[in-house]
Amino acid sequence: MIIAVFKEKCPEECRVALVPSTAASLAQAGHQVVIESSAGLSAGYRDEEYAHAGAQIEADRSRLFERCEVLLMVRGPGINPQQGAIDLSRLRSDHIIIAFFNPLMHPQPVQELAATGVTAFALELIPRISRAQSMDALSSMASLAGYKGVLLAANALPKIFPLMMTAAGSLMPAKVFVIGAGVTGLQACATAKRMGAIVSAYDIRPAVKDQVRSVGAEFVEFELTTQDAEDRHGYAKSQSDEFYRRQREAMTKVLAENDVVIATAGVPGKKAPVLISEEMVGHMAPGSVIIDLVAELGGNCVLTRPGETVHYKGVTILGPVNLASSVAFHASQMLAKNVASLLDHLVDVDKHLVINMKEVITLNTLLCKDGRITNQRVLETLGQ
Ligand code: NAI
Repeated sequence: MIIAVFKEKCPEECRVALVPSTAASLAQAGHQVVIESSAGLSAGYRDEEYAHAGAQIEADRSRLFERCEVLLMVRGPGINPQQGAIDLSRLRSDHIIIAFFNPLMHPQPVQELAATGVTAFALELIPRISRAQSMDALSSMASLAGYKGVLLAANALPKIFPLMMTAAGSLMPAKVFVIGAGVTGLQACATAKRMGAIVSAYDIRPAVKDQVRSVGAEFVEFELTTQDAEDRHGYAKSQSDEFYRRQREAMTKVLAENDVVIATAGVPGKKAPVLISEEMVGHMAPGSVIIDLVAELGGNCVLTRPGETVHYKGVTILGPVNLASSVAFHASQMLAKNVASLLDHLVDVDKHLVINMKEVITLNTLLCKDGRITNQRVLETLGQ
C-alpha cells in the first residue's frame, strides 16, 4: 500500500502520525511510505531521518493526496479548522484515512466526511480491550496528559513537591489529590508520587482502588454508593445529579486539605461531570492549584475555561488542552506505534486492507465507508 503521512496544519498541533522508526518498519513490511515535507519537524523528526528510514518526501500536499491509498493524520478533516475543508475536497472513495476525528463530541463533521465516500477509522473509537491495547491511541495520549498535568501543577504551585530537610528548616511535601483514576489519573498519581508529593485519589469505579495503591497513592473512600459505575467496556457510567451533589459535598474537605487537585473525571462521549463548585474552590488555601484536564469536555470545575488560567480567591485553575502536543516527540512515537498496530491489524497476509465487519476492533473503529456512517455509537450521538 502507498501510505501518506501529512503535515498537521493547526498551529497548536505539533504531533505527527508516523515517526521514522515506524516508517522504517512499514517500509520493511513492503509498504511505500511517503511523508509530506517537514511533517515531523515540530515533533523533532527531520525529513532526512524519514528518508533514511526508507520513506519518500513529497512537498506538494495535493499531489500526496493523488498518490496515496492510505492517509495518516493526527487531526482528520472535521477537527482541523485550518485545512479541513480543503483536505475534505481532496478525499476520494478509494482512500482510507486513519486519524483522530473526535466523532463522539463533534459528530456533525463526520457526515461531511462520510459524504466523500472515504473509508475512515477514528482512533478515539478503538475499543479498550486487551487485544487492542497496542492500538489504543487515546490511552497513549491520556497517559502523557497525566504526566504533563502534574508538571504544570508543580510549576504553578508556590510550594515544592518533595520533602526537603535543609539548614533553614524542613519543607513539607505538597499534597496532591487526583479525581478520576483512569489512564490520565493513574499517570498523574505516579508522576506526583515520583516528584515526592503525598498523593491520594478517588474514582467512582471501585475496581481501580488497587491500581491507585499500586502507584503509591492512597485511595480516598467516601460514603457514596455508586450503582453500576462501570459499563461493559470498562468505562465509567454517568451518575445522577443527586450523586454528583453528594460527591461535591463529600470532597469539599479533601480539596481544602490538598495543595493540588488534578481533575480527570470523564465519561466517554458525555460532558464532564461538575465535581468542583465555586464554593469548594473558595474553601481551598490561597496558592492552591487545580489542573482541570477535562476542560475541553466542560471541565470538572465550574470555573475552568479551556486553554486559560483562571484565578479565584487566590486559587489558580488551569484548563490545559491537547497536552500531548506539548510533548510531541514522545506523543508521536506512541501514536505512530498505535497507528502501525492498527494498520497491521487491518491488512491481510498479502498486505491488502481487509474490512471484516465481524471483527470487533474493525467494527468499533470504522467511522464511515461507501458514503455512510457505519459506527453505531456515532449514529446514536447523531440521533440516527
Ligand atoms: P478514563 O475513562 O480512563 O478515566 C476517567 C476516569 O474518571 C475513570 O476512571 C472514571 O471511572 C472516572 N470518573 C468518572 N466519573 C467520576 C466521578 N464522578 N468521580 C470520580 N471519578 C470519576 O479516561 P482517561 O483516558 O484517563 O482520560 C481522562 C480524561 O482526560 C478524558 O476525559 C480525556 O478527554 C482527558 N484528556 C485530556 C487531555 C488534555 O490535554 N487536557 C489529554 C488526554 C485526555
